[in-house]
Parts: sequence; structure tokens; C-alpha cells
Amino acid sequence: MLETDRLILRRFHKDDWQDLYEYLSDEAVVRYEPYGAFTEEECKQAAISRANQEFFWAICLKERGGEVDPIAQAAGKLIGNIYFQQQNPPDFMCWSLGYVLNPRYQGQGYATESCQAIMEHGFTKMHVRRIAAMCNPENTPSWRLLERLGLRREGHFIKHKFFKRDAKGNPLWTDTYLYAMLAEEWPVK
Ligand SMILES: CC(C)(COP(=O)(O)OP(=O)(O)OC[C@H]1O[C@@H](n2cnc3c(N)ncnc32)[C@H](O)[C@@H]1OP(=O)(O)O)[C@@H](O)C(=O)NCCC(=O)NCCS
Repeated sequence: MLETDRLILRRFHKDDWQDLYEYLSDEAVVRYEPYGAFTEEECKQAAISRANQEFFWAICLKERGGEVDPIAQAAGKLIGNIYFQQQNPPDFMCWSLGYVLNPRYQGQGYATESCQAIMEHGFTKMHVRRIAAMCNPENTPSWRLLERLGLRREGHFIKHKFFKRDAKGNPLWTDTYLYAMLAEEWPVK
């Protein structure tokens, strides 16, 4: 578990599905993700599988609904998730970073705060050598976040991949930005 000024970052629990459903069922939220909008049942399954996957971190508010949570900090509302997974081969010590926030909680710096905590943890505690992230150039909030975090744009791949298809089943090819940061560049000055 990691703690920041306003957030707790923790493993998923199976009971997190309702908070997950609040944002993963939203087409706008998953627009640039390699999956479509989730159903309630898919969120139940996702909460269970994420609870067993160390690379998924739940982003939770310390406070629920503006009131200080009197029970436990980890009981605060789940407002998004971070994906932080080691790439192959393991000897390269490279990790991929990904993130999704509930739209109700965007625009308040929560993604920045939680990614900074994960990066600090990775670089200082896990011997991470390089953190990389990819995003669609049309996803401006995503690459702006990466630049706020201090990652460097290292590439722009043209018609590099597709996640979705058009009505006729043709791939919708998309460009990709690659961003990265090395351990020796952390912390950002
Ligand atoms: C990508 C994503 C997580 C970015 O979320 P975000 O809300 O823009 O990022 P943050 O939470 O860091 O908030 C930053 C914004 O809050 C503002 N802000 C307010 N208070 C702040 C604070 N205390 N600290 C930092 N920023 C603050 C910043 O100025 C910035 O606003 P701006 O974009 O108008 O300049 C979000 O757009 C998202 O979940 N998208 C859908 C999923 C997705 O596409 N994921 C990426 C796939 S590659």
C-alpha cells in the first residue's frame, strides 16, 4: 500500500466492482483502451482478477464524499486504477505504466499524484531502471499527464496498432506516442 497527501494506492478487492463499474462502463473512458465498455458482470470478474494481479493498483480517496473517512483510509472511494507491470525480458528492468480515472475525479491532479507515488516506489524501492508508457496522440490528457510526470516523448509510431474495428470489421489503425523515463532522471528537477 502507498500513501500520498490525498490518496491511498492499494491492491484491488473483489468488492471494488461497483466503483470499477462507475467508470469502466463509460464508452468515453475506454475510448483509447484495448477493450470496450464493461458490463456489471465484467466488472465483478475484473475486480476478482485484479485482486490477484500485483500490477494493478487501485487509486482510492482518503476521504469519501468530502468527509474524512472515519473507518479506515483503505475504505475510501476507488476513483481509478494504475497499471504498473514489468516488461520482458525481466533483466532489462523496464516497467510499463498505464492509468484510468473515473471522469468525476479528473482534472484535480489525482492521476499525477498517484503516478508520482508509483514512480517513486518503482525507482527507489523496486530497482526499476526505465518506465515507459504508450498512448494515442489524440489522447491529449494522457500525454499531457506523462509530460507533467517528466517522461520524455521518445517516439511517434505511425498507424502502429489497432484496438478497435469499424462497422465493416476493418482495423482502425492508430498512431502511438512512446514516452519514457530512466531511474537516473528521477526525481524530476
Ligand atoms: C489520462 C487521465 C488519467 C488524465 O487525467 P487528468 O485528470 O487529466 O490528470 P490529473 O488527475 O493529473 O489532473 C490534471 C489536471 O488537474 C489540474 N489540477 C487541479 N488540481 C491539481 C493538483 N492539486 N495537482 C495537479 N494538477 C491539478 C491540472 O491543472 C490538470 O488540468 P489541465 O489538464 O486542465 O491542465 C484521464 O484523462 C483518463 O482517465 N482518461 C481515460 C482513460 C485513458 O485514456 N487512459 C490512458 C490510456 S493511454
